[in-house]
Amino acid sequence: MSKNHNKRLINKVALITGAGSGIGRATSLRYAKEGARIIVVDMNIETAEETVKIIKNEINGEAVAIECDISIRETVKSMVKQAYSQFSRIDILFNNAGIGTLSYGELVNISEITWDKVMNVNLRGNWLVSKFVAKRMKKQDLIGELRGKIINNASLLGKKPTSPVGVYSITKASLIAMTRIFAQELAPYKITVNAICPGFMLTGIFMNDERAINEMIRFWGKPILLERTGTAEDVANVMFFLASDDSNYLTGQSISCDGGCTIV
Ligand SMILES: NC(=O)c1ccc[n+]([C@@H]2O[C@H](COP(=O)([O-])OP(=O)(O)OC[C@H]3O[C@@H](n4cnc5c(N)ncnc54)[C@H](O)[C@@H]3O)[C@@H](O)[C@H]2O)c1
Repeated sequence: MSKNHNKRLINKVALITGAGSGIGRATSLRYAKEGARIIVVDMNIETAEETVKIIKNEINGEAVAIECDISIRETVKSMVKQAYSQFSRIDILFNNAGIGTLSYGELVNISEITWDKVMNVNLRGNWLVSKFVAKRMKKQDLIGELRGKIINNASLLGKKPTSPVGVYSITKASLIAMTRIFAQELAPYKITVNAICPGFMLTGIFMNDERAINEMIRFWGKPILLERTGTAEDVANVMFFLASDDSNYLTGQSISCDGGCTIV
């Protein structure tokens, strides 16, 4: 994929959740390099503001930070209201925020607290953001052939649910299902909905720690065909395609970015 940033997202507004770290930050920077204006959403406002600072100082781009815990309905509602009042439209929504490491354990052993926490962020939270954004996106003007694009961050574990990350896998498999349902419901409004399914990327979800990711790969038990763990930038490259006009005829799809993990 081209590294020449030809500003192919110029005049687009992208709202990215979990954008204070890892894949969310890398995608925010990539979109900003392509000319998009970025709404950086995270429950951690300090890291969200750091992302904004990088966009402004290193890319000369435009970005704002909004604090929001996506698992809380009222904060999601007011975050979306604030985003629309500042930018008046959202062209690209990347539902990226998610949690993982909390959820280790066999399903028969995990507590209801763990189940609820992971479900509330990874599934309910992403649904809430889509719900409040889509209500407004449906009423936006068409630009070209679409009103907007929604992309959900699922996982290879959504395609191949694996113990002992069972509850996490269930949320991600459900996100793939939710992607297809929203794609059906929003197609008449010219809104596409797709998912990205990253493999093993060294990010905050693994505490940026090689040992933590290697333990997870051991649970997975199969090789990474391309013989390396992934990076947040590997995902950001595919996310650029999913946000660009080149993917306008794609909806309801779950695109793997996993070095070949899911085909063995
Ligand atoms: N890293 C991987 O290997 C991998 C693989 C597949 C899928 N994913 C998915 O990628 C997404 C991003 O994770 P990452 O790997 O960049 O990890 P990360 O921990 O570096 O980033 C996650 C970000 O989400 C934010 N966040 C967490 N809960 C939130 C909430 N309730 N409300 C708002 N923000 C919240 C965190 O503050 C953090 O900034 C997650 O959905 C994760 O499940 C990651």
